[in-house]
Amino acid sequence: MKIVKKISLLRKDLTLLRRKGGRIGFVPTMGYLHEGHLSLVRQAKKDNDIVVVSIFVNPLQFAPNEDFRHYPRDLKRDAKLLKGFCDILFAPSSDELYRKDFCSSVEVKGTDEALCGLSRKGHFTGVSTVVAKLFNIVLADNAYFGRKDAQQAAVIKKMVSDLDFPVKVHVLPIVREKDGLAMSSRNTYLTIEERRQAVVLFQALRSAERMAAGGIRDSAKIRQALEDFIGHTPSARIDYIEIADARTLAPLARIEKDALLLLAVYIGKTRLIDNTLLKVKKLAVTSGY
Ligand code: PAF
Repeated sequence: MKIVKKISLLRKDLTLLRRKGGRIGFVPTMGYLHEGHLSLVRQAKKDNDIVVVSIFVNPLQFAPNEDFRHYPRDLKRDAKLLKGFCDILFAPSSDELYRKDFCSSVEVKGTDEALCGLSRKGHFTGVSTVVAKLFNIVLADNAYFGRKDAQQAAVIKKMVSDLDFPVKVHVLPIVREKDGLAMSSRNTYLTIEERRQAVVLFQALRSAERMAAGGIRDSAKIRQALEDFIGHTPSARIDYIEIADARTLAPLARIEKDALLLLAVYIGKTRLIDNTLLKVKKLAVTSGY
């Protein structure tokens, strides 16, 4: 595996590989890799001839009060984990990606008005700007994202479709710890006691799945039940619980077809997100006798 820090060198390497007809798979990350990231890298390895992973903690997607400075970073550890699966690890500095006079942005409109965007103003514009830049640098055939960040995946898919990026976006399943907590680099912020309580997100999702499978169609009823359930966890504070169209993420008052339940909950000071598909059983058609 080669570690590349300069855009010009990465472009040179990839141009040569592309000329030989290699398909390029790309996994953008902010590093401090866990099994969730590695599942994306493994899939990229299966689908492509060359795998590029980027590690860049993108300052544009953090608000001033957020954890940019404290976000975990360990390039050596990440490089070890990627060996055998990744061909090129692209790890640019901030100055390399955002030159001093950088003043452009890519905005998918409306992202600040829903879900994570409401409490993280500007976050998704930061994400779409860096992903657009990385897509233009890597020119991959396939790009891989995790379903845990469902809103991010929807924003990127919309950007790719609106701006005709010639890349296929793959969104892969959430990878969970043994007790169900979705893997996230931010889980490292949790104290032992908070980590124990953080499983409440997963338990809430499972109880919503059971309610939907049991025939409850009223989103408000499910949301209220989850608020009560999560409310019993001392270190938990709900940011949002939403039931939305699985493709557009528009809120749904009733669950008439498969819908996405998304939630963001603070455990202590750490904001965690998770989601699940609420499946609706089709009513059996009877003959009427
Ligand atoms: O999901 C992430 O790790 C980041 O938001 C991404 C897509 C790498 C952009 O910085």
